Amino acid sequence: KRLVLAYSGGLDTSTQLRWLADKGYEVIAFTANLGQEDFSGIEEKALKSGAVKAYVLDLQEDFVKNYVFPIIRSNAIYESRYLLGTSLARPCISKAQVAIAKKEGCKYVSHGSTGKGNDQVRFELSTYALAAGLECVVPWRIPEFYNKFQGRQDLLAFAKERGIPIAMDAGNRPPYSMDDNMFHISFESGVLEDPAATPPESTHKYTTPLAKCKETHDDVQIWFEKGDPIKVKNLNTGEEASTPANILKFLNRIGGQHAIGRIDIVENRYVGIKSRGVYETPGGTILRAAHLDIEALTLDREVLRIRDMLSLKYSELVYNGFWFSPEMEFLQHSMDFTQRHVNGEVRLRLFRGNAIVLGRSSPNSLYNKDIVSMDVEGGFDVSHSEGFIRTQARRLQAYRNMAYPKGRD
Ligand code: ARG
Ligand code: SIN
Repeated sequence: KRLVLAYSGGLDTSTQLRWLADKGYEVIAFTANLGQEDFSGIEEKALKSGAVKAYVLDLQEDFVKNYVFPIIRSNAIYESRYLLGTSLARPCISKAQVAIAKKEGCKYVSHGSTGKGNDQVRFELSTYALAAGLECVVPWRIPEFYNKFQGRQDLLAFAKERGIPIAMDAGNRPPYSMDDNMFHISFESGVLEDPAATPPESTHKYTTPLAKCKETHDDVQIWFEKGDPIKVKNLNTGEEASTPANILKFLNRIGGQHAIGRIDIVENRYVGIKSRGVYETPGGTILRAAHLDIEALTLDREVLRIRDMLSLKYSELVYNGFWFSPEMEFLQHSMDFTQRHVNGEVRLRLFRGNAIVLGRSSPNSLYNKDIVSMDVEGGFDVSHSEGFIRTQARRLQAYRNMAYPKGRD
């Protein structure tokens, strides 16, 4: 019974690893490096917790290029506010996990998500979509497991008893659940479960609290090619970055200093539960603002309208875990087709929670200064506007006469 476990190195997945090994699984631990903090000693920890083998894979460029940038190109945003930072990471992790399972001849995969959340759906839909023969083993949905580990103390006691290495601070971990990668960090559960409660100061990781952020602004310039950012420059210091992962890291750092990209929301989970989350996405927030702006210059009006409708559906698919679905493939192709001419640069000022556009330009601009100008005629025959308006008005008059024959204020 060989199994690949998506392993974070924390107390929960270490306990799961040991428990699965006790149940007779040969556990291969897999940790995806998506730019989260620290990986030192993780292989050793996995092996000490009972793994037969441990993989740590650096997926940072893959994650940014193939998961983050597609959603920037598509302007994805869930329920008007959430930039999908955790939702995106799951299919990326699953894909690598499935590849390891195939290579290692495993029939089983496992993850540490709970039975009440979105992540279980995302992991498992991705797994089944990519490898129909694999089985997902989910400890948090197995009564023997969740009855045994009802609280932190149970986990700690088991770890002690079974010689699972415990981090120094495992006993007093933060009073909420975190999930981080190089796009975002999320804080949920625990003290945040009361939606009225103000999050503690400790929930700031990627952004500086507004009251403590930098006193002076930074101006940045971002270049796009086919809807993807290809270069970014700090106009104050001249510093630049250019690979996908470096661009994102660069913008995270500078956006974080200006308290950009922090939200506190109540959202609808796919499983039908409302949950409260605090998220920080500094670089993603700046990229979204810049991307929307370069599109405004380069996209046709009607294409933009239809694309906006599709963005809504696209975001829902990402959130609900349908990354590897036919409808997603169709939408991504459509999105990418709209981006063929989304080229150019945008300059923004970053200051006190804001990313404010200062100007933009594009070699593919649809903007015509002469046509829009109040100062020159520019080839736009204003005499045609009268007929345009009168013809539009006909329908409005017909309705009004029918609906309010006696007149209306
Ligand atoms: N609610 C967000 C989402 O569903 C964040 C989930 C955080 N996951 C976690 N394991 N802490 O995408
Ligand atoms: C979890 O349930 O493991 C985290 C929250 C979520 O997946 O929505």
